[in-house]
Amino acid sequence: FRRKWQKLIAIILFLSLFLVGCGQSSEKKIIRIGHNQSQNHPTHVGMEAFEEYIESELGDKYDVQIYPSELLGTQTNMVQLTQTGAIEITVASNSALETFNDSFEIFNLPYLFPNHDAYKAVMNDPEIVAPIFNGTSESGFVTKAWLDAGIRNFYVSTGPIETPDDLAGLKIRVQQSPTNVRMMELLGGSATPMGFGNVYTAIQSKVIDGAENNELALTENGHGDVAKYYSYTMHQMIPDEVIVNTDFLDNLDDDEKAIFDKGFKIMQDTQHQAWEEKVVEAKETAAKEKGVQYNYPDTEPFRQAVLPLHDEVLAKNPKLQDTYDKIQAKTESYRKAEQADKEDAQ
Ligand code: GCU
Repeated sequence: FRRKWQKLIAIILFLSLFLVGCGQSSEKKIIRIGHNQSQNHPTHVGMEAFEEYIESELGDKYDVQIYPSELLGTQTNMVQLTQTGAIEITVASNSALETFNDSFEIFNLPYLFPNHDAYKAVMNDPEIVAPIFNGTSESGFVTKAWLDAGIRNFYVSTGPIETPDDLAGLKIRVQQSPTNVRMMELLGGSATPMGFGNVYTAIQSKVIDGAENNELALTENGHGDVAKYYSYTMHQMIPDEVIVNTDFLDNLDDDEKAIFDKGFKIMQDTQHQAWEEKVVEAKETAAKEKGVQYNYPDTEPFRQAVLPLHDEVLAKNPKLQDTYDKIQAKTESYRKAEQADKEDAQ
């Protein structure tokens, strides 16, 4: 597969250079955006809004081109291409980024946020995220926007997951990140890291028993065809980061910088809005059209099982402590409200 994508990228890059060389657009700089979602996904919708805005403001200078569906490789491949400047922009899950820069480990911790509102409040707080987003230029990129990727839950072909014991012996795909592998170990399942694009076939052919993701994976990626039990363990809320090559940004003049900053804001807002709508739609469609069944286990035993990971990560990477403490302070009121709701319901 690696060879295949390398060839493909070489062809795409060659063709676009060739076209620039002989076409009318010889003055235009191409900005390539790579992502791994379908063209119906909120992420793609956000990229289109960015393209439209940038080209309306700077269309004589820049041509924005979006490559969806892992056309430029897996997220890990695309991050590498963004580091070298072969492509300018990549949408990468925060999980995929932790091996490139360990500051990202913080947002991969399971049960870091008590609910989706708390997660959004943290991700929208520049005091918490800006040091991480802007602090990775030594890795060749910075983060210019974060995209909502909802709440991650387990889904398998074997039966509903009610307790961590139900994961014992199951092979579960996780993202290619040490934190996620460790999370699965603590939950008692067997972690199988692989790129997003290989998950469908792996479940279908029973190489794995299931995976964990938001509801759009059931519909947009068809995983609901091969895994019918979706269990709301709500173990992670992992944002997608829009990473941009630093040299590209450094070469923009001040006016262009302001326009691009506005473009990234439009991209983020558009994606967030599309997310809210499409995630509700996906949940209904997966049940109606694919026969996916939902269950709502008590999340506390799952949380207790993986909590040691917080201390493990902080001990190994103490520079994250400050951000961790800020997140705890910011989410305190959400946690209390969530707790009160639970007690009322009992
Ligand atoms: C979500 C997320 C992607 C990620 C995928 C995965 O869909 O938005 O960025 O690649 O999960 O599990 O790999």
